[in-house]
Amino acid sequence: MASPPVILLLVSLLFCIATQRLYAEQAPNYTFVKEASEVSPLQGRFDYIIVGGGTAGCPLAATLSSRYRVLVLERGGVPYGNSNITRLENFPRTIADDRPDSPAQRFVSTDGVISSRARVLGGSSCLNAGFYSRASPEYVAHLGWNGTLVNESYPWVEAVVANVPIVQQWQSGVRNGLLEVGILPYNGQTFDHIVGTKVGGSIFDAEGNRHTAADLLEYANPDNITVLLHANVHRVLFRTRGRNQPLAYGVAYTDNTGSTHRAYLERNTRQSEIILCAGALGTPQLMMLSGIGPAEHLRSFNISVLVDNPGVGAGMADNPMNAIFVPSPTPVETDLIQVVGITPFGSFIEAASGLSGYAGATSNSDDFEPYLGIMSPQIGQLATYPPGERTQERIAEAVAQLKVAVAANNPAALGGGFILEKVFGPLSNGNLRLLTTNVSDNPAVTFNYFADPADLQACVQGIQTIEQVINSGSFTDFRYPQTSTAFLLNLTSSLPINYIPKHTNDSTSLEQFCRDTVTTIWHYHGGSQVGRVVSPTYHVLGVDALRIIDGSTWNFSPGTNPQATVMMLGRYMGVEILREREQS
Ligand SMILES: Cc1cc2nc3c(=O)[nH]c(=O)nc-3n(C[C@H](O)[C@H](O)[C@H](O)COP(=O)(O)OP(=O)(O)OC[C@H]3O[C@@H](n4cnc5c(N)ncnc54)[C@H](O)[C@@H]3O)c2cc1C
Ligand SMILES: *[C@@H]1O[C@H](CO)[C@@H](O)[C@H](O)[C@H]1NC(C)=O
Ligand SMILES: *[C@@H]1O[C@H](CO)[C@@H](O)[C@H](O)[C@H]1NC(C)=O
Ligand SMILES: *[C@@H]1O[C@H](CO)[C@@H](O)[C@H](O)[C@H]1NC(C)=O
Ligand SMILES: *[C@@H]1O[C@H](CO)[C@@H](O)[C@H](O)[C@H]1NC(C)=O
Ligand SMILES: *[C@@H]1O[C@H](CO)[C@@H](O)[C@H](O)[C@H]1NC(C)=O
Ligand SMILES: *[C@@H]1O[C@H](CO)[C@@H](O)[C@H](O)[C@H]1NC(C)=O
Ligand SMILES: *[C@@H]1O[C@H](CO)[C@@H](O)[C@H](O)[C@H]1NC(C)=O
Ligand SMILES: *[C@@H]1O[C@H](CO)[C@@H](O)[C@H](O)[C@H]1NC(C)=O
Ligand SMILES: *[C@@H]1O[C@H](CO)[C@@H](O)[C@H](O)[C@H]1NC(C)=O
Repeated sequence: MASPPVILLLVSLLFCIATQRLYAEQAPNYTFVKEASEVSPLQGRFDYIIVGGGTAGCPLAATLSSRYRVLVLERGGVPYGNSNITRLENFPRTIADDRPDSPAQRFVSTDGVISSRARVLGGSSCLNAGFYSRASPEYVAHLGWNGTLVNESYPWVEAVVANVPIVQQWQSGVRNGLLEVGILPYNGQTFDHIVGTKVGGSIFDAEGNRHTAADLLEYANPDNITVLLHANVHRVLFRTRGRNQPLAYGVAYTDNTGSTHRAYLERNTRQSEIILCAGALGTPQLMMLSGIGPAEHLRSFNISVLVDNPGVGAGMADNPMNAIFVPSPTPVETDLIQVVGITPFGSFIEAASGLSGYAGATSNSDDFEPYLGIMSPQIGQLATYPPGERTQERIAEAVAQLKVAVAANNPAALGGGFILEKVFGPLSNGNLRLLTTNVSDNPAVTFNYFADPADLQACVQGIQTIEQVINSGSFTDFRYPQTSTAFLLNLTSSLPINYIPKHTNDSTSLEQFCRDTVTTIWHYHGGSQVGRVVSPTYHVLGVDALRIIDGSTWNFSPGTNPQATVMMLGRYMGVEILREREQS
């Protein structure tokens, strides 16, 4: 006879399998989503061609399809049925998988920080850590958005993707610690952006299943939308003859067999448009490949210049992230971000735990692969080396070190988590340049982390606050009682992590710590900013029938984390475009 705990285990295992199967069965079977290679030649013309079925593209397409014929061209496949994407505990596996057709494409900025960009329907909402939090009313006002429509658009998104997280050990420890050290008031659970400490939202539900921007296609009118997968757009087509400004009239794309196709806008209306939603790297890259960008740079690739605009690729920014690992003697949950401390000094403090997300394998099995959650060396977050020194060899060494530590039951390897801080803005920024004329290749991106002293100051204050949280009474259960540095270093020296800031005794040294351990929280943005490349209504300057609606239009990352506002903007601009056409 099986003992009661064993029965309980079996029952909960069966329950897990059942709910996962249920989810797989409930994955939408969109009749309008097709392989690009299977829809050739493409019939008809479209009122809107949306390039990039990502976080902004999906809600935008769904909204426009209510009245118009919409085509979405997405370079990746579907997220459904891929448990790397759909399951919370598999977060690092998706980012670690850098094969040519995988959902995540790795890129390394010229600064030397390793990062990832999406290549899948639903975009980065299929890769991300799930935290869901709105922009502040001040941010909304600053961009000149209609606040009433913004407040109608967020709930439209939230009804499908946002969940209220269940706060467990580690997250409540961090929350209570933040309150104890004065990140006040406590704002409870809210999607709103308010100074103080709060529990935000998550696109993961209580069972750990992810809900992405692709799910927003549930709102689409299936009769008037076509979504093509593995449709890699390499050029926007323009007509110039007899016109003041070039007119966008179609796009050229390649399918997964390597065949090239074209898709065209409806001719019988002046209002048809191509809308680029290819993200902060994809959109400026595609603009340049289509002849809009810094003239000299384009000429160096023999790209004929349509519009000389040095603003394309300018203002690229990535919010620096610095994290401290704390090994915990108390077992902690496997979780991504749920709690955030919104400080008045421009630093957002968040946390994640569940060190050994080893996806089921035991330490003696062949596919044993432990991860460190959002700081997994496998995904390039190797903060033990300064940016630029995070080589493939060192990543491999770190992974090997981690496997040994987990297999040896090193207590630090078996429990604990990270407390991280992200700098608001940031003020520091750089640029994007082509390296080749192949759209599948990454462009060169420079972010110039901490070039602005105010960003560095916000990091230092953030790290000081994290140290206070670790040392707070509320955090007692989650740190080893022997607080001596030597003891903790001994616990963690066998792990590829940074526990103690290398220099804690003066602020200059914490500045060095910030520079040395900087990683990404993947909130990179810019490259097609309002005023430089697009108008406040997101029309591309200097051409007709082309807009850009995605994170490339921003000067600052919205909220504590951007995805809520990216999805909101897709919905918001869809409604705005429908209204414009109604009035004309
Ligand atoms: C690992 C990771 C963790 C993150 N964690 C969080 C978090 O916890 N919370 C949060 O709020 N934000 C998080 N973010 C940030 C957030 O997800 C992104 O800022 C946001 O999703 C970007 O949206 P976008 O629409 O601008 O671009 P994307 O969602 O990246 O969409 C761009 C789409 O365009 C497609 N595309 C690109 N080029 C072409 C082309 N030439 N032809 C056809 N299609 C093309 C891509 O395949 C992609 O689907 C995270 C991001 C990442 C990568
Ligand atoms: C989706 O629906 C179509 C049409 O109803 C059907 O042919 C197809 O087999 C379905 N696919 C899946 C994966 O259920
Ligand atoms: C589809 O869009 C066209 C405009 O291109 C519109 O005339 C038609 O009514 C729409 N059809 C449906 C079923 O919504
Ligand atoms: C999931 O990720 C792992 C590790 O990155 C990879 O080996 C595996 O092939 C991926 N699975 C799928 C279905 O893509
Ligand atoms: C939008 O909602 C937020 C709360 O979510 C509120 O603070 C703000 O004032 C509202 N804005 C408008 C214009 O109603
Ligand atoms: C702003 O949005 C609201 C709600 O959708 C709408 O009623 C109002 O007319 C809009 N205001 C302007 C100036 O467009
Ligand atoms: C551009 O064209 C010139 C002349 O045809 C050629 O010599 C040069 O190699 C080309 N440069 C690139 C980057 O393709
Ligand atoms: C572009 O790059 C991709 C990925 O590296 C490669 O498969 C493809 O053949 C390249 N295309 C051209 C035209 O060189
Ligand atoms: C370091 O840890 C090991 C066991 O993990 C122990 O044997 C050793 O004494 C410790 N050294 C110090 C300096 O604490
Ligand atoms: C800070 O630490 C360094 C290295 O341990 C040491 O040389 C220096 O004297 C310390 N400075 C102060 C102000 O304690």
